[in-house]
Amino acid sequence: MNIQILPSLLAADLGNLSSEISRAEASTAEALHLDVMDAHFVPNLSFGPDVVALARKCAPGFSRNVHLMMSRPDLYLEKFAAAGADTIQIHVEADCDLNVELRRIRSLGCKCAVVINPETPIEKIFPYVNEVDEILVMTVHPGYGGQKFICECLSKVRSLRDMLPSMDIMVDGGINAETAVLAARAGANRFVAGSYLFSQADMRAAVEDLRERIIRHG
Ligand code: DX5
Ligand code: ZN
Repeated sequence: MNIQILPSLLAADLGNLSSEISRAEASTAEALHLDVMDAHFVPNLSFGPDVVALARKCAPGFSRNVHLMMSRPDLYLEKFAAAGADTIQIHVEADCDLNVELRRIRSLGCKCAVVINPETPIEKIFPYVNEVDEILVMTVHPGYGGQKFICECLSKVRSLRDMLPSMDIMVDGGINAETAVLAARAGANRFVAGSYLFSQADMRAAVEDLRERIIRHG
């Protein structure tokens, strides 16, 4: 399967956002992951469409994967699409009609993904798996970077991979050189990493090393 590594901008040095975006692009990572938090769906606030637009301005050719941790993502889809989101990810736990909103994301010209939290039973996403371009399995409780990887979430990745051999399955939360290999063995092929990658002096070497480990040991 095609492997993707996505640095999460949440862990960037916010005082140097444009150079951090350029550093992520130069790392050979396939896309940038942007975490949007509304202080309601999760107990934290991050940023909105302006930062997605900044990413497009600083790195036009670097794909933008926008993870909406919002109770009402439906109210903001147009804004994120207009700001330059390439993929928009919405949670199955959100307070909106997923079927309608996934279709709307596509009609706005973006790829769409459904996201599932650690405590949510996998069956909840079954109605949507044929309507999405990728599935994001959270491997931490969303809301903060730098948390510990929850190994139990890998059983979801395994079941989804058995069910959907060619689906793009992403993991997000607590990914580093060890946990990425565990997730790859379970069947993930897209890997978000925030604190692990942005804390590296040489992000490019870390991305290349991560990719190599996933291919070699996954
Ligand atoms: C968590 C976010 C993640 C976060 C990952 O709520 O969805 O994307 O930035 O950060 P790390 O890799 O530090 O766990
Ligand atoms: Zn995320």
